[in-house]
Amino acid sequence: KLHNTNEMLKDAQKKHYAVPAFNIHNLETFQVVVDTASEMRSPVIIAATPSTVRYADKDYLVALTGTAMEKYDIPMSFHLDHHEDVAEIESTVAAGCRSVMIDASRLPYDENVNKVKEVVAFAHICGASVEAELGKLVGQEDDLVVDDADSAYTNPEDALRYVEDTGIDSLAVAIGTAHGLYKGTPKLDFDRLTEIRQRVEVPLVLHGASDVPDELVQKAISLGICKVNVATDLKIPFSNAVKEFFKENPGANDPRKYMTPGKEAMKAIVKHKIEVCGSQNRY
Ligand code: 13P
Ligand code: ZN
Ligand code: NA
Repeated sequence: KLHNTNEMLKDAQKKHYAVPAFNIHNLETFQVVVDTASEMRSPVIIAATPSTVRYADKDYLVALTGTAMEKYDIPMSFHLDHHEDVAEIESTVAAGCRSVMIDASRLPYDENVNKVKEVVAFAHICGASVEAELGKLVGQEDDLVVDDADSAYTNPEDALRYVEDTGIDSLAVAIGTAHGLYKGTPKLDFDRLTEIRQRVEVPLVLHGASDVPDELVQKAISLGICKVNVATDLKIPFSNAVKEFFKENPGANDPRKYMTPGKEAMKAIVKHKIEVCGSQNRY
C-alpha cells in the first residue's frame, strides 16, 4: 500500500525544509533515487510524468515503490507529475498510486478549478493527495517583462481562492522558474512567494528547480517552498556519463556496465539536491 505525500510535506512545512521530488524513468534512475535517499535518511518523492508512466508501466512503478518501501524505512511516495488526463490519473490511482498532480494550469481559472475539483473528489476518496498549479511556468527562452510576469505568475489573491475552491493538498506556484535550463540566471519573484505564503496554508511546490542556483532554491525554501521538483539536472549527467563510457568503450554491450557510470553521476546530483533541500537525516 503506497503513501500519499501529505505527511511528508506537512513535516517539511513545520520544520522549514523541502522534500525533493526526483523525476525517474526506469529501474536505474529509480534505484539511484531511493538508494541515495535511504542512505541520507531523506524523505523522497518519486515523480513520473505521463510519458514516463506510459514508458515504464504504472504497475511496474507501483510495484517498485512498494518494494522500496519494504526495503527502506524512509517516507517515500510515487507521484504523478504534470498529469492532464483525468482518466489516466484515475487508472493509475486504481493501480495503487496515492499522490497526483493534476496540471490544469493551461486552462482559464474556472475550467482549471472544475477539472481539479473533479480529481480531488475522486483522489480523496482513495486517500490520494492532490497537487495543482495556478499560473504558468515561463518557457525557458521567455524573458518576461513585468506586465507579462504578472499575468503568468501566480497571483497571491487568486492562490487563496484557488486552494479554497479546489480543496487541493499542495499548490505549485509560478514565481519565475521554468522547466529545463535557463539562458542566464533565473529571476525568482520572492516578494510574490512571500505574499502567497502569507495567504495560503497548504504546502507550496517549486517546479523547474534544475539549473536554479542553490542559494535561490534555499531562499525559496526559507520562504515556504516544501517540495522541490528536479528532472533535467539528473538526466544530463546520467546521459553524459553513459556517452562518455561508450566513447571510451565503443564495443560495450552490457547494460550493467554502461549504465553504471550514469547511475554514479546521477547519484552525486541526487545527494547534492537532498542537501540543498535540507531533507537529510530527517528520519
Ligand atoms: P526541471 O527539469 O527544471 O528540474 O523541472 C522539473 C519539474 O518541474 C518536474 O515537474
Ligand atoms: Zn514541473
Ligand atoms: Na529548470
